[in-house]
Amino acid sequence: MAGRILLSLVICYLLTCFVVSASDLRNTITIHEGGYENILIAINKDVAEDQSIIDNLIDIFSSGSGHLFTATKRRAYWRNITILIPKTWTPKPEYEPAKTESFETANIIIDAANPEWDDNPYTLQLGGCGVHGEYIHLTPDYLTDRANSEYIWGSMGKLLTHEWGHLRWGLFDEYHTEGDGESVQKFYVNSFGDIVATRCSDQLEGEALNINTFAPCQRDPSTGLYEEDCFFFPNLEGQTSPASIMYAQFLDSVIGYCDSNDGPHFHNREAQNKHNKLCDGRSAWDVMLETEDFLEGNNPPIEEDIDTTPTFRLVQARERRVALVLDVSGSMGNNDRLTKLNQAATQYLRYTIDDGSFVGIAHFSDYSRTIAHLTEITDTSRESLVLGLPDIANGPTCIGCGILEGIEILKGVSGTDDPAGGYILLVSDGQQNRQPYIEDVFDEVDEAGVIIDTIAFSEAADPNLLELSVRTNGLAFFYPDTATSTALNDAFTATVSTRPGLSSETLPIQLYSGALTIPADGPIEDTFLIDSSLGVNTVLTFSWLDDPIDVVVIDPFGVIIDSNDTVQYNRDDTAQIIAVVINETAKTGLWRFSVDSESDDVQTVLVTIESKPTSQTDAPITVNAIVGSQTIDHTVTPRLEIFAEVRKGYLPVVNAGVQAVIESPGLATTYLPLFDNGAGADITKNDGIYSAYFLQFDNNGRYSIKVQVSNEDSTASISSRSRRSSGGLPLSPDRYTPSPAAYEPAEPFVRTGSGGVFEVENFVAPIGDELAPSRINDLGVLATSYDESSVTLQWTAVGDDYDQGTASSYDLRYATAFDSLRENFTTSDPIMDDQVLAGNLSVVGLSGTVESVVVKLPVRGDKVVYFFGIVAVDEAGNEGDVSNLVSASLEYVAPTTTQHEVTTDTEQSTEYKTTTVNRVKPKSGLEPWVVGVVTAVSIILAVAVGLVVALACKMSTLPKKKMNDDGILYNDNAIKPTTEYRNNAYMA
Ligand SMILES: *[C@@H]1O[C@H](CO)[C@@H](O)[C@H](O)[C@H]1NC(C)=O
Ligand SMILES: *[C@@H]1O[C@H](CO)[C@@H](O)[C@H](O)[C@H]1NC(C)=O
Repeated sequence: MAGRILLSLVICYLLTCFVVSASDLRNTITIHEGGYENILIAINKDVAEDQSIIDNLIDIFSSGSGHLFTATKRRAYWRNITILIPKTWTPKPEYEPAKTESFETANIIIDAANPEWDDNPYTLQLGGCGVHGEYIHLTPDYLTDRANSEYIWGSMGKLLTHEWGHLRWGLFDEYHTEGDGESVQKFYVNSFGDIVATRCSDQLEGEALNINTFAPCQRDPSTGLYEEDCFFFPNLEGQTSPASIMYAQFLDSVIGYCDSNDGPHFHNREAQNKHNKLCDGRSAWDVMLETEDFLEGNNPPIEEDIDTTPTFRLVQARERRVALVLDVSGSMGNNDRLTKLNQAATQYLRYTIDDGSFVGIAHFSDYSRTIAHLTEITDTSRESLVLGLPDIANGPTCIGCGILEGIEILKGVSGTDDPAGGYILLVSDGQQNRQPYIEDVFDEVDEAGVIIDTIAFSEAADPNLLELSVRTNGLAFFYPDTATSTALNDAFTATVSTRPGLSSETLPIQLYSGALTIPADGPIEDTFLIDSSLGVNTVLTFSWLDDPIDVVVIDPFGVIIDSNDTVQYNRDDTAQIIAVVINETAKTGLWRFSVDSESDDVQTVLVTIESKPTSQTDAPITVNAIVGSQTIDHTVTPRLEIFAEVRKGYLPVVNAGVQAVIESPGLATTYLPLFDNGAGADITKNDGIYSAYFLQFDNNGRYSIKVQVSNEDSTASISSRSRRSSGGLPLSPDRYTPSPAAYEPAEPFVRTGSGGVFEVENFVAPIGDELAPSRINDLGVLATSYDESSVTLQWTAVGDDYDQGTASSYDLRYATAFDSLRENFTTSDPIMDDQVLAGNLSVVGLSGTVESVVVKLPVRGDKVVYFFGIVAVDEAGNEGDVSNLVSASLEYVAPTTTQHEVTTDTEQSTEYKTTTVNRVKPKSGLEPWVVGVVTAVSIILAVAVGLVVALACKMSTLPKKKMNDDGILYNDNAIKPTTEYRNNAYMA
């Protein structure tokens, strides 16, 4: 699969709309008079207890706040930070009880490293330029092994300002990003025909050297650029350029972002990096100033001297405590609603909620009452709670009453416990018509510090439910109350399964969620897969509304489970559920089941299948569905990004079949395939995040989403590496250019998950084809040929409407100067058909197809350079935005002859190594390239100046050394790495 990135970026200026955030489910950071508040850092429950993690977090965010203040030219710093300590750590008096803070919604997470990505800090970004990232991931080792971290990434506080650029302002990396299959552009040809390193600013000085020989780089005749092993080594000494943090935060001189003012911060918009590709060549500073933080004069520079040290609050999580708050008003008697609610709640209480959690139940209509106090979940208490589900619906609706009752339940049996951090799962089908209303109890909700998950049961449910969830960091769902919707079951499951942070045991994973229609002449059959990572506590539930059903389940070896099996087959005629509970570890492989009913009528049955992981340590594959926004103003943004993150631990799972299922207020069901191809809504190829634009809006109101992932045809594989798209640049180039990602085939598996709800307002039915193709973001130069005077270009097709369907033609244009193509694209020279040597610009592939053409250019020779840009056009003439611009040199480059080698005396170089390079951090040893540079460059110098003897003498006086893992000698009491680094001959 070749690389592609495209995307249409629309930056919604957030004063009136909600679209800027890639996900509203994250904890909301605010900014007030330059101080960011309500930042949440959370430590994963599986991170070993270590006080130095907390101490170092406080230290680096305190120093980072000063760096941020400098980098934003006195506009912003971090004022308040909350650190969530997991419940697995020893309680301390200074820890307050957690309120709405949770690991799953945190802005910065502290969790184990991805095996291959190591401890490199990164930010998960789903959306495009200017869109908030999801979270910053720091590892325990990054935080505790500070010498190592500073050696590799430079000042830890400054590194945070790099990640903050990703997280808060949707900036991207300004170094060359090495995407899987995407062209790697460490160098590019500028408007003067010179080969220059991809960086910002272009005033940063350094050298282009072959990383193996440390000789000056040679040019490759097939691209006109430098050979593949050529890297740019920025000078560590004598560097004066202050920008940019999004390029190389580890350089001491770098203290700011690139901007568009003439001066040393001047943005390098010709550089071929992800920032320029996604942000259309705009500087980091300009993108930042257009976010809501600084738009229209918000948060102007602070004149007076202020203390930028943040205040820290430490809070600790508790066990899961849930108050089920169920609507029993009269309308719940319609359309079997109470039965459906009881079926979903029964499955939740019997099979989904984990042992050790606490659950209580309240009912409300025009008043509320507690049916069950908080009860610890055990085998026996589950059934007593099921008895607390409602059987009568009657009276008006007072949602505020229900919420207050839920808070009372979370105060425990004594009524004196702190409800903070408890969950209310609120289900309601009605508009409130008795006080207190939802908005009347906001103060009580805030004070109690509870998290409210809401399930809007039918389109008639109160519009304020979503706001209640967003306000409390809760989840929001919509059940359209149709016969075939599984959204109610899925919502109940998601409230538990998406929050592993609270559980001491492993949680069930949903494998299957569907509605089957039994034909009159029955039965109906289906299959599901159990992969080897799952199989514990496997439960299949089948619920019906009309006539009793019968179920037969057959395991991969043909063993039958049916109603004769009194242990595993459980029939509940009251709730109208059959549950097949596999009592041992379920066999891996393809399972079958069939469902029949006694009646001759066609009948719909809802089927849910869940299973738990077999291992506590080896993570199973999971799917997490995320929507670009929970609120859509259709007249402003007639589209919504839907993302599904498929991963095993932090490793991306690529090439799986993924689709979103969207139920609309018009009662339509849309199946939307999601792709991880770097096109359209998908900003990074092969990162395990599958994306697409949803466009089939049919009305105002609530839309419910679930995602389905399948690897039944064994196409998927697990990548050994991930998230290379965003993160601080390590000082050593070979750390971000390791061997290509390795892929391990994934065994067959299936997964489903709820994506919650989004709400649409101001819907206008489109008239004709109004939507343009997405912008192409991944135009790249594959090759150039001096002989043919030609350039081979490649990109990924976008759709007719954004990334959906097929566009009708391409408009490919060129110029000999970057600025003229950028400013005057439509009047630049088009590539005419007679210039196309291979490919065809009028034949357009389906969205996601990799396209390429070979085009002939009029002139070749010394310093000849061409710039290209492309636009996709649909059959109605709608044009996408101009793509990223690329350059190609048509200068004659002589074929490479012999590789230039640096000759060194091996023994001498080893000696030099051990003397000069005794600076290295103890853990992983000296970066090989540093040794190389030091060795190669220094030896030449050393020999030339006749220093070898002197060095040998000096060596005998050095402190004792020992060998590290890489076989490199280092000092036990080595000086601080950075100091030594600056002293070495790297810069020569
Ligand atoms: C944030 O910090 C300021 C000043 O340190 C303090 O007055 C304020 O109460 C804090 N706010 C929060 C939400 O912690
Ligand atoms: C773009 O076109 C206008 C009008 O022809 C011209 O004045 C301007 O200089 C052009 N810009 C560049 C950068 O070539």
